[in-house]
Amino acid sequence: MTEAKKTRKLRSAEWFGTQDKNGFMYRSWMKNQGIPDHEFEGKPIIGICNTWSELTPCNAHFRKLAEHVKRGILEAGGFPVEFPVFSNGESNLRPTAMLTRNLASMDVEESIRGNPMDAVVLLVGCDKTTPALLMGAASVDLPTIVVTGGPMLNGKLGGKNIGSGTAVWQLHEQVKAGEISMHDFIAAEAGHSRSAGTCNTMGTASTMACMAESLGTSLPHNAAIPAVDARRYVLAHLSGMRIVEMVWEDLKLSKILTREAFENAIRTNAAIGGSTNAVIHLKAIAGRVGVPLELEDWTRVGKGTPTLVDLLPSGRFLMEEFYYAGGLPAVLRRLGEADLLPHKDALTVNGKTLWQNCHDAPIYDDEVVRPIAKPLIADGGICVLRGNLAPRGAVLKPSAATPALMQHRGRAVVFEDFDDYKARIMDPALEVDKDSVLVMKNCGPRGYPGMAEVGNMGLPPKLLAQGIKDMVRISDARMSGTAYGTVVLHVAPEAKAGGPLAVVREGDWIELDCANNRLHLDIPEAELQSRLEAWAANQQPDPADASGYRKLYVQHVLQADEGCDFDFLRGCRGSAVPRHSH
Ligand code: FES
Ligand code: MG
Repeated sequence: MTEAKKTRKLRSAEWFGTQDKNGFMYRSWMKNQGIPDHEFEGKPIIGICNTWSELTPCNAHFRKLAEHVKRGILEAGGFPVEFPVFSNGESNLRPTAMLTRNLASMDVEESIRGNPMDAVVLLVGCDKTTPALLMGAASVDLPTIVVTGGPMLNGKLGGKNIGSGTAVWQLHEQVKAGEISMHDFIAAEAGHSRSAGTCNTMGTASTMACMAESLGTSLPHNAAIPAVDARRYVLAHLSGMRIVEMVWEDLKLSKILTREAFENAIRTNAAIGGSTNAVIHLKAIAGRVGVPLELEDWTRVGKGTPTLVDLLPSGRFLMEEFYYAGGLPAVLRRLGEADLLPHKDALTVNGKTLWQNCHDAPIYDDEVVRPIAKPLIADGGICVLRGNLAPRGAVLKPSAATPALMQHRGRAVVFEDFDDYKARIMDPALEVDKDSVLVMKNCGPRGYPGMAEVGNMGLPPKLLAQGIKDMVRISDARMSGTAYGTVVLHVAPEAKAGGPLAVVREGDWIELDCANNRLHLDIPEAELQSRLEAWAANQQPDPADASGYRKLYVQHVLQADEGCDFDFLRGCRGSAVPRHSH
């Protein structure tokens, strides 16, 4: 780093750099932590935005992670300041961690802008923590680097590997089908989650970690190193060193989060068999930097991209094997060599392009990161659907679906909401057969509220007992990235917002045609309109939406096709230093 660059005026000097009453106040209170004078003399101040929480088990090791980031910052001549933000834990938070993703993003944005920092390190892991922190940081636009907590070691059951989340869905179906006992089911809990870290399948946490790396917001290999692998802590240290240089280079997040970066991420999502949740989160992040991104971009950019990563839930392996096989750089290399990486010259946080980082990445295992000629799935892109049942779109993940069901016509079995589904799905008298289409309403952003991951409705036990493993399911909900099935998700507008999903009736014919991106409710247009009018005339406000955070949420949340951000949070509000507090 040249000395000339180091003369750049630091944002933090607006707090600590003046010899007056204000400077006294800002410095003096900080000194109660045992900080000597010279620390305030022009060192870059680096915020470490920590989502540590014992209630977010996937991020519970983040104090150790932060210590290693600090070592790197100190080594490079920076001054680290760690601060907590709302921690969205997927496993404990009810009704869903998605309800508070935007709340966390507001916490992140205001914490960064209002405090003395020149750059920020985002410590992320569990599903929603990655988009929440990137959204908040993008709305401020300081130099920013992502450090992910890393995945858990492989789950173990009966001497075999089992995958986070995916095993839960599978074992639960086996209990319902009478194949295993409740005792065996409960006994699987401990081996399912046996180390620190995030879900070890290609669920939403792993997907978003890969998105952060393919967007260029982290150092190479950030996505896949296991949480307990010493190399994870080396990466944290190196990220701490790098963020200090990024201050002198003024390498802001907006220089990384370009339209080109999002196109690279969409292609990467297909190649890794990533979660459908990425569709929502990438849209929300793009919205914060003003990058246009449409649902159809997932078709235009992603369609035809082979899935190369053979991980559960689409394939066989887990994140441990993915790292040992070469991790995300191996996948990006394969894509680039086949001319499937749309923007090789996209800039990343280490100052190099994505292609410079991965062009010679070692690939150690062709079973886990498959060659282009032997993909897990020939077309792994997210399928975007439209039609009179989803005028503003819906999505399906082909790599998790049954090919034969991706062209399907069947009669609707309708559940008014998740409670109605749970109350009736076990009933042997439920009129349903393998060709039925399970339809669930009122699980969208406003309806649930928070658009819970309930879209992968478990099948009726009587069909499971017949050996039926998959059926077409349609809802305005999301689905866990660890789940699988021929599941149509994110139907927009949602039922609660008056989308046509609200008026589907028992026995209606529904057509799903993935090849032609079509989702059709086969009733006459006039009938659909009269049902929608009758529905609108019948609506009553929900008393639970009348106050508190939930009121803010239902009034301002955007539909799935717009990323479920709050309408008033879109855009970048910059890093201008606010006026003094005294
Ligand atoms: Fe936290 Fe899966 S529950 S990553
Ligand atoms: Mg999840």
